Amino acid sequence: MKLSGQTVVITGASSGIGAEAARKVARLGATVCLLARRADELEDVRACIETAGGSAYAYAVDLSDAAATDAVAAQLLAEHARIDVLVNNAGRSIRRPVKESLDRVHDYERTMAINYFGAVRLTLALVPRFLEQGHGHVVVSSSMSTQVPIPLFSAYLASKAALESFTRSLTAELGHDGITSTTVYFPMVRTEMSGATPIYQAMPMLSADKAANWLVKAIVDKPTRVTSLPGAMGELGMAALPGVVTKVSQPLFRRMDKSLAKRVRD
Ligand SMILES: NC(=O)c1ccc[n+]([C@@H]2O[C@H](COP(=O)([O-])OP(=O)(O)OC[C@H]3O[C@@H](n4cnc5c(N)ncnc54)[C@H](OP(=O)(O)O)[C@@H]3O)[C@@H](O)[C@H]2O)c1
Repeated sequence: MKLSGQTVVITGASSGIGAEAARKVARLGATVCLLARRADELEDVRACIETAGGSAYAYAVDLSDAAATDAVAAQLLAEHARIDVLVNNAGRSIRRPVKESLDRVHDYERTMAINYFGAVRLTLALVPRFLEQGHGHVVVSSSMSTQVPIPLFSAYLASKAALESFTRSLTAELGHDGITSTTVYFPMVRTEMSGATPIYQAMPMLSADKAANWLVKAIVDKPTRVTSLPGAMGELGMAALPGVVTKVSQPLFRRMDKSLAKRVRD
């Protein structure tokens, strides 16, 4: 029971990676606070945890709504004397070419609203508690696609990169006060999110169950990052030869999309 006595807040816990991670973390002894919009799905996860002997609380909230986020943060602080870990996992993805986004600045605004501002607002609300306790760990569910130059996801990836950068600064500033963080760079994971793009049916992906283990590692071991080898190599390549990596990867992605589309058609 590695997390016995700890309270872990997980956003985006109504489905996919967040729901699986919540069940695993509860099995390790943590009290889990589950946040997302869909109350029924959250209740299913909560009930499943309680039936297995764990402890969980569900909070239905739209984290892109500032007032609702402030209210849920106040409720969390009032109802839990101790909050050890915040997992900023709730998110939405938009896959759209830049040429089709020219009159769609709202795509950039709505990804920032949930992926960045929602997470920042909740984190800032919990910082005083982390400081009071002398510890607090913040986990970011990010994407391997921020480690390498990837087309078609400009709104989504910019919001993820912004959250990574915010969290890095938070740790740089308050690490000596006990605030630590982990960024998790997921590769593609088979969930509702990736299922929204038909050609991805043909792509090999991590299961939500396996991906949840990455979050568990972030919560239990608290490394600075959890990454795949290709993601780490992509970062190295970008640090050493950004021009070459950016140029060489462009035709590769175009070919990959064509080949996935063909496999789905066949
Ligand atoms: N799947 C992938 O390939 C992949 C790859 C890299 C990174 N990730 C990241 O992993 C995280 C989890 O995604 P997933 O793949 O597990 O997809 P998912 O099943 O669609 O989960 C997304 C979660 O975010 C919640 N959410 C969305 N908008 C919200 C809002 N406005 N307020 C509160 N909660 C909200 C959703 O719950 P409600 O709809 O109930 O609100 C849901 O629980 C995301 O941050 C995603 O960007 C996923």
